[in-house]
Amino acid sequence: MYLQTVTAIAVALAGTANAYPRDPSLTSRASSIVKGKTFDRFVSIWLENTDYSKAAADPNLKWIASQGITLTNYRAITHPSQPNYIASAGGSTHGFTSDNAGTIDASVQTIVDLLEAKGISWAEYEQDMPSSGYTGNYNNPKTGANDYVRKHNPLISYDSINTDPSRLDKIKNFTLFESDLAANALPQWMFITPNMTNDGHDTSVTTAGAWSKSFLQPLLSNSNFLGNTLVLLTFDETESYISNNDVFSVLLGDAVPTSSHGTTDGTEYTHYSMLSTVENNWDLGNLGQGDVGAAIFF
Ligand SMILES: *[C@@H]1O[C@H](CO)[C@@H](O)[C@H](O)[C@H]1NC(C)=O
Ligand SMILES: *[C@@H]1O[C@H](CO)[C@@H](O)[C@H](O)[C@H]1NC(C)=O
Repeated sequence: MYLQTVTAIAVALAGTANAYPRDPSLTSRASSIVKGKTFDRFVSIWLENTDYSKAAADPNLKWIASQGITLTNYRAITHPSQPNYIASAGGSTHGFTSDNAGTIDASVQTIVDLLEAKGISWAEYEQDMPSSGYTGNYNNPKTGANDYVRKHNPLISYDSINTDPSRLDKIKNFTLFESDLAANALPQWMFITPNMTNDGHDTSVTTAGAWSKSFLQPLLSNSNFLGNTLVLLTFDETESYISNNDVFSVLLGDAVPTSSHGTTDGTEYTHYSMLSTVENNWDLGNLGQGDVGAAIFF
């Protein structure tokens, strides 16, 4: 089953340079302490396909909102999923209009180029990705259910990432989040993609909300996670294609002052604000794309 899946993906993606799958032992851990203006670590967690009102009504997401600032005017970039993820890393959808696998020329920069130039460590934690830097899709071998999907991985389609082994090694299975956390070796920038069950894609906002609270609650008192950490919990897009694409988003973590817990911020943000906020925080410059001029969170 596993090998068949891999072969099918290799055929589907023929023309890309990677081996399928990569050696599961290939992975790397990088941490750093570069002080930022308003936070020292940025964590984004993306859930899937839910309208603002539905997410705001979920009891677990309400609890998360009580721990931070709800962004009431945060808009996704487009539909469907994949171009939103791509845009969050590179400031543009780079011509992607569907969830089909594709690649972006190696000359195109991402936030990773800006972070690395300042020595700021980064990683992606992708739940149920079968090996670090894996470039296909992956189904649960027992149930056949969708598990890890490439379209929900913001960096993997950029050739500047997927042709560089040292970068692929930082695109890791979510299980390694727990070991990096325990070792007090989390990076300063990270993107977390729950699997297709936990992000609500193949389930519902109830599942996504429950998973998010169970994941975040212990972290909000874990000193290996905290230390001026800013977390953004958001959704890639709304379920409805005729809405404004306003997605429910919360900023939390110990970079958010306790006095702001349970408040709202109605500034117009987009997924590009993830880039502009990080760029401003560490004086990274910019990508010259949608990041330029996108409102910063704080
Ligand atoms: C990836 O994560 C899954 C559980 O999410 C685990 O079963 C699997 O062993 C992990 N693989 C690697 C290579 O860490
Ligand atoms: C997603 O992860 C959860 C653990 O958080 C696991 O129970 C579930 O089976 C996974 N989904 C699939 C489709 O494997």
